[in-house]
Parts: sequence; structure tokens; C-alpha cells
Amino acid sequence: MKLGTKLIHAGVAPDPSTGAIMTPIYQTSTYVQSAPGHHKGYEYARTQNPTRDALQDALAAIENGTHGISFGSGLAATDAVIKLLNPGDEVIVSSDLYGGTYRIFTKVFARYGVKFHFIGMQDAQNIRNYVNAQTKMIWIETPTNPLMNIIDIAACAQIAQEHQLLLSVDNTFASPYLQNPLDLGAHIVVHSATKYLGGHSDVVHGAVIVKDEALAQQLYFFQNSCGAVPGPQDCFLVLRGLKTLHVRMQRHCENGATVARFLREHPKVGKVFWCGFEDHPNHDIAKKQMRGFGGMMSFTLKNDSMDAALKVLSSTHLFSLAESLGGVESLIGHPATMTHASIPREERMKNGLVDSLIRLSVGIEDADDLLADLDKAIA
Ligand SMILES: Cc1ncc(COP(=O)(O)O)c(C=O)c1O
Repeated sequence: MKLGTKLIHAGVAPDPSTGAIMTPIYQTSTYVQSAPGHHKGYEYARTQNPTRDALQDALAAIENGTHGISFGSGLAATDAVIKLLNPGDEVIVSSDLYGGTYRIFTKVFARYGVKFHFIGMQDAQNIRNYVNAQTKMIWIETPTNPLMNIIDIAACAQIAQEHQLLLSVDNTFASPYLQNPLDLGAHIVVHSATKYLGGHSDVVHGAVIVKDEALAQQLYFFQNSCGAVPGPQDCFLVLRGLKTLHVRMQRHCENGATVARFLREHPKVGKVFWCGFEDHPNHDIAKKQMRGFGGMMSFTLKNDSMDAALKVLSSTHLFSLAESLGGVESLIGHPATMTHASIPREERMKNGLVDSLIRLSVGIEDADDLLADLDKAIA
């Protein structure tokens, strides 16, 4: 089955009790048993919920995995993955990544004895310099947030295989429409479904997808034992969002290309970071592992002052100034004070995340209106 069909049909079936074509929101905390231990597969809603089951099956299908495990947020999904590790274990992490991921690694899990090495991975071979006997996992985001660097997933998978490490890929920016890390050798895919999967900026949700039974059972165990489960209404919203992922992503890609090219030609714009440019340092890898280049990008102004950037950030009308990304509406953001504020400034600067960087999540509005909005704000 191809992706567009899976997005609409995978995991869902008419409701057995009514024939409802849409999976109902099973808003219940518990299920009646006919005798102790005799039930219909559902005991308590932290452990199982039919709306969540439908979503989990759909998530597994669209990432070409066997198991989807849903969580109350993307960070709760990340939390579950790192709980696969033990004190003393080490993780090699791509240095350009979502600030909240950096925060949970350095401020939460480091306290429990897990060590994180944040390194540049544009050349995946650099990973080899940090592998030692304690290394258990490689964690990457690609495209990276917010600098749109591309990391070679297959090359990372090769290194992971040689050293028997787990490779975990945060696929939030690309979505399964653009890339499927499990097909490239990754063991774990993480999503903030809050973004493209949900697609309408109306739900916070996270997911982990795997194709290994033992890994899946450990993750289900954490889902139930630690309890960061999503509510059934949120599962319903993500399921509904999935049904249009392919058509939304197609437009995100078209608008993304139009906006990126417009910015690059603009006399007041400095650098534009978008992996669809042929001279992007890892464009070849992007072309190899992605089916398009998406609607995420960032840019600086020629007048590289913070004031000028702040002026643009507060002058757009269609691009709303807000955290998050991946919704149908366009957003503009300032990584240094918003999404990446939890990364110390010197770390941000080391990675090239300058204070004046502006990030765009290009939505699916009419591109002409988006260009006019940006043009006016930049002028
Ligand atoms: C790439 C990426 N991963 C993970 C997360 C965390 O997801 P959530 O906000 O759903 O917890 C985010 C949030 O912005 C993100 O951008």
C-alpha cells in the first residue's frame, strides 16, 4: 500500500458497535469485566485505549515499522527512548537539535548518569571519534532544527550496526512523507506529532515507532509504567491530521521552495538555510534520503543586528510569531529566545545559531500572499 492510502486507511476500521466510519473517541478510564480477568482486551485506559490503538497502528504503518507507541508529547516520547539506557551509558547526539531535547538530555537524564556527546554530524564519520565501550545510542535530527543541516541516516546506521548501537532519529521536521528512517537502517523513529502529523496546531502529541519486538515491548512497558499517555481526544485529532498529511506536505514543499528562493533573491536577506538549494552543503544526501525538501527554513538579514531581526519578527501578519511548526498556517520564530533558549548561548554560537536567526514554518496558504507578507516585513 502506498503512503497516501496508508494515511487514510491504516489502523482504522468501522467501529464494531455502530459502524461509525471514524474511530470514536473512547473517553473512558476503565472497562467493565464480566468476571475477574475476563475482558475484551481492555482493562484500564493508561494501559490500553481503542482510539490510541488505531492511531498507534497507523503510525507504525506510515513509518514502515511494526509498532507505534504514543505519548502525551514529543518530549514524553524522547523520555521513553532514553529510558532504554542505563546509568553509565553514553549517547552521541547531533549538536544542532531542538532545545527541549537538549534540555531533557542535559538537565534530566545527565543527572541519572547517562552521558551525552553533542557533536557535528554533517560528516557522519565524525561519530566514530566518539564511540567507546559505553556508547549505546546515536541520536539524530535531520533536517536539524533550526539550521536545516542534513545528516546521512544510512551512514549513521552503518556505524550503529558496526558497534551494535541503537540509532534513534527524530523525524519531526521531515515527516514520513519525506523520509522513512527505519528503511535506512534506523532502529527508532521519534515524532513530535504536535507538528506535521497533527498538522493543525491543535494538539500536543508524541510517538515512537520501531520494528523490533523487544524494543517495542520495552517502550510499551514505559508507556504504561511511567504513564505519559495521550488522551483519546488527542489521539483522534492526530488520526484525523494524518489523513491529509500527504496533500498538506506536497503544498508545504511547494510553498517552501517558493519562499526559500524568494528570500535568497531578496536584497535585504543574508543567508538562507534550506536543504533544497543545490549548493546546500548536504543537498546530495538530502536528495538521496528525502522525497522533497519541506517547508522549514531559517534565514538572517544582511543587517545582522538583533534589532533588525526583531523588527521583522514582529512585522509579519500571515506568518504568526509563535513557537512550534508544521501546522497549515505559517509561523515565524526566533530560535535564540524561543525554541532554543534552553541551549546556553555559547553552545548555540558554536553551532552557528546566531542571535539574529529567524525561523519559518511555511504553511499551505497561497504562496503569493506569503511572499507579500515577508516582503513587507523585511522592507
Ligand atoms: C524536532 C522536535 N522534536 C521534538 C520536539 C518536542 O515535541 P513536543 O513539543 O511535542 O513535546 C519538538 C518541539 O518543538 C521538535 O521541534
